[in-house]
Amino acid sequence: MGDAIRIEPLEPRTAPDDLLAAAHAVVAAARSFDAPEDEPPTLAAYVADLRHPPAFLRWPHWLAFVDDGGPVGVASLELADLPDNRNFAELEIDVAPEARRRRVGSALLREVLAAAAADGRTLPTAAALLDGPGPRFLAAHGFTFRQRERRSRLLTSDVDRDLLTGWIDRAAERAGDYSLVTWSGPCPEEHLDGYARVSEVMNTAPLDDIEFEDMVITPERVRAVQATFPARGIEPWTACARHDPTGELVAFTELWYHQHRPARAEQDDTGVDPAHRRRGLGRWLKAVNLLRLLDAHPEVRAVSTWNAESNDAMLSLNVAMGFRPWQDWGRSSPAPRPSASTSPHRRFSGHRDGDDRAHVPRTARGSEAA
Ligand SMILES: CC(C)(COP(=O)(O)OP(=O)(O)OC[C@H]1O[C@@H](n2cnc3c(N)ncnc32)[C@H](O)[C@@H]1OP(=O)(O)O)[C@@H](O)C(=O)NCCC(=O)NCCS
Repeated sequence: MGDAIRIEPLEPRTAPDDLLAAAHAVVAAARSFDAPEDEPPTLAAYVADLRHPPAFLRWPHWLAFVDDGGPVGVASLELADLPDNRNFAELEIDVAPEARRRRVGSALLREVLAAAAADGRTLPTAAALLDGPGPRFLAAHGFTFRQRERRSRLLTSDVDRDLLTGWIDRAAERAGDYSLVTWSGPCPEEHLDGYARVSEVMNTAPLDDIEFEDMVITPERVRAVQATFPARGIEPWTACARHDPTGELVAFTELWYHQHRPARAEQDDTGVDPAHRRRGLGRWLKAVNLLRLLDAHPEVRAVSTWNAESNDAMLSLNVAMGFRPWQDWGRSSPAPRPSASTSPHRRFSGHRDGDDRAHVPRTARGSEAA
């Protein structure tokens, strides 16, 4: 006989503070145990994220209890009500270290998968540290491995300002037809349409075996994500390249400074329109943006980012900037792999940097990626 496990739903927008604090304690304990080199989210950051998701995101959570004590497991499911990827949903499960191997994770996963199925989400997807228990747990539940991701970290003490300045200087030779457009905070109204359009370059990023439709990024979607930033303590720093002959924004990169965690910034998305690649636009924008952020916030000690391990272009640029491999992650999904010829989904190939989940809002783990 196993333990009596009780699962209770938690609606983070309205849940009492003490329940969110109890959920945070489980998540922080689980993450510190599996990745002691990383700081788990502070209570303030965790609660701010949970209380303020974008308007298009439903984000049910569940708590698991064993006996009469506090919660020992937390699960969540991101249900984005957007026109694309209606069958996709990101799930997370964390079980406190002392409660593991007692079927708590399995009970939570059953609940999450039932909720996903009830919402028509045939592609629930989970990410887990490769050297933690997550991949074996997911495999035991019939998930198949879809994509390997590298999480990298740049220590600001390693930043070579001369190198970055050299990249910026070379842009004048290699990219004479382009000019720089930068802002911090919300996207200025005059750039909103162009910024939404260039954000769709993320649809060319590699997803390996993840089945994901092209995202439709409208100005409203950009605004819905940005509207959450003040409450979540996120300050975005953006640099774009404008192609002067057409006036179009054709490349962009974004860094996020966190007021709740000022020592570590995050690299969010970077994208260069395929028609404008190999002119040094990526190097130029990333160099400019990093120096802008560090000049404004010298308290930043590190910048972290995620990239698909298959994303050679973005990884080599990041390595050249001084990013070093930090953690290995894998993404899995339970649905059987479709054959390439019959899949309605695109196989991805291209560039992805920073947080692919700013638009697929992956709010829980902090939003970096790809
Ligand atoms: C992964 C996690 C949720 C599992 O929770 P759990 O309550 O310990 O899992 P269960 O007891 O339900 O395990 C079910 C099965 O998964 C497999 N499994 C779980 N942990 C495992 C481990 N450390 N090594 C090998 N297999 C493991 C086993 O097959 C296990 O069955 P068994 O105990 O009869 O052998 C928990 O370890 C955790 O919080 N990890 C960190 C976060 C994470 O990776 N989450 C998963 C992705 S969202």
